[in-house]
Amino acid sequence: MNRKLSQRHDICLADDPKTQKRLELALKRSKELDQTQNMDGASKSFNYDTCKDEYWNPEKFSLLYKTWIWDQATPAQKVKLNQLFWVAYYSQIISAEIATIFFNQTSAAALYGIEDFRIVCDTLDLESQQERAHIHAFKTVSERFEQENFGKRIFTYPMRTPFEKTMLYSDLSQFQQWWRKWQLRFFTMVSSNSAFIGCQYFTVRGLRTLNGKIVQHQLSRFYSEHPDKENSPIPSQISYFHFIDESFHFNTSTVVSHDVINSLPKPTALERHIGNMALKGCQMDHYNFSTAINGIFWYDPALFESIYQMLRSPVFGMSRDEALHAMEKSFCEESEGMLASHRTHRESVDSYRAYLQDFNYISRENKDLTLMAGNSLEKHLSTNRRAFAAFRRSAA
Ligand SMILES: [Fe+2]
Ligand SMILES: [Fe+2]
Repeated sequence: MNRKLSQRHDICLADDPKTQKRLELALKRSKELDQTQNMDGASKSFNYDTCKDEYWNPEKFSLLYKTWIWDQATPAQKVKLNQLFWVAYYSQIISAEIATIFFNQTSAAALYGIEDFRIVCDTLDLESQQERAHIHAFKTVSERFEQENFGKRIFTYPMRTPFEKTMLYSDLSQFQQWWRKWQLRFFTMVSSNSAFIGCQYFTVRGLRTLNGKIVQHQLSRFYSEHPDKENSPIPSQISYFHFIDESFHFNTSTVVSHDVINSLPKPTALERHIGNMALKGCQMDHYNFSTAINGIFWYDPALFESIYQMLRSPVFGMSRDEALHAMEKSFCEESEGMLASHRTHRESVDSYRAYLQDFNYISRENKDLTLMAGNSLEKHLSTNRRAFAAFRRSAA
């Protein structure tokens, strides 16, 4: 049947052969370079004992790097802080990827409702399958690490559905978390029935992974530049395999949100509003930056309990007072580490702005990242100081 006649809409992806070719080529390459087997192989052969005394990331990607705690740590504790960055970082990635698997599916449901979109849906299917292998690898290493070092969970958590909060350590109140869950349910319904919202999800996904891409590229280089790749730590290999798959995912986000969207009917006012709401949610999630972990926009006060437990564990063996003193020095005073995390936050604002520049449905407030750019070093310090005073009183 004539393509135009077979469509419900008067524009279609077939009218944009350049984008269609890009999608086809990307899926072909992504299948050729698929890292699922390598990921599963790494999960299987992971043995904590063989890499427990080594760094897993470049040194600057260590938990609490260049804070008071880092400066006072012994070389052996620094190794643990380096490994803990891996554990904490990828625990956050697991949460994001649980959500990604789900929204890949709801978006594909909407896009499959239009002729010619099979290629996009097939790409998303492959990506979801890859995410499951990623999650399995991250979980295997992180849970083993925590079992060995803490004998309990600190950063890890049992498997869960996408309706939990995506940001592990956030400043959302109980009510806001509840409200967010209902927004997610609403977004699910809309994104699986509106091709525009389905496509727009990739603007949010692209934005959320923009910063991740920069950090994960650097994490992957620990393996690619390792002098003895064969005997390099398995977690570093996982970072490398992950980065290869994720480069394709990022490319999908860019093509779908920037180009495929042009092959859809113009959004309605309601669709534009929902799209902007999702972006505002992203700004809220990325408002904070964390002294403890550069590159993830966690809310430090929500992390206090986990860091306290880490300091009280046999790895640091601190007493209550020692742990509180170390935390006050690290979270409530300016340090090189805090400044570096702040810098990453500013850089992210700039790169998000560049990413959102040429969309015409996006509001000024979202394009300028007004909310996210409103945070500052002074605000960060005064929030931490105020929250720490309360934490000190309640610490057991
Ligand atoms: Fe992934
Ligand atoms: Fe991904």
